[in-house]
Amino acid sequence: MNTLLAVVISYLIGSIPVGVLVARTRGINIMEHGSGNIGTTNVWRNLGPVYGLFVLVMDMAKGVAAVLIGRHFGGVETELLAAFGALCGHSWSIFLRFKGGKIVATGAGVVLAISPAVTLAAGVVLLTTLGISRYVSLSSIMAAITVPAAMAFWGMDTLYIIFGIILMVFVIYKHRSNIQRILSGTEFKVGKGKKR
Ligand code: G3P
Repeated sequence: MNTLLAVVISYLIGSIPVGVLVARTRGINIMEHGSGNIGTTNVWRNLGPVYGLFVLVMDMAKGVAAVLIGRHFGGVETELLAAFGALCGHSWSIFLRFKGGKIVATGAGVVLAISPAVTLAAGVVLLTTLGISRYVSLSSIMAAITVPAAMAFWGMDTLYIIFGIILMVFVIYKHRSNIQRILSGTEFKVGKGKKR
């Protein structure tokens, strides 16, 4: 019962569409601009770094909150189910007719609350890939792949590694359109502001 409550609360927190609300304050429907995504990258792309970073922090906070709520209500299983609830909320928001984001920032918040060291490793991989490719999407995917690898490397509990693999697959699945654009050479690049 406690686990169900933690998952439902976390799903609702994850559902809060921060990017949509922030863009609305500037009269923009973010889902109709740029990539159409509600996350940091697209808000930054359309409204600049201040708005983008605000969305990053708030979306990460949703992931951190879910882990802490899960921890409050139960053990590792509850913690990870609550985290998954927040990821599902962000991705299929009850406030956006079950549309939503690509779970990179919310996933980063979850991983931060579980292991700052793994977050640091994923962050280094993200920034390195971004520096080389200038594709945020590819960098996000590489960071997501790093998460379960780093968890395994540091000998974390199997449940965390399984969660890391699920998170990795979830992130890659949500970046399907980005992968298609990378392959066709039309993906957004940092510093270009629009499709190549
Ligand atoms: O966090 C999402 C990012 O990886 C890609 O965003 O707007 O380029 O699809 P976007």
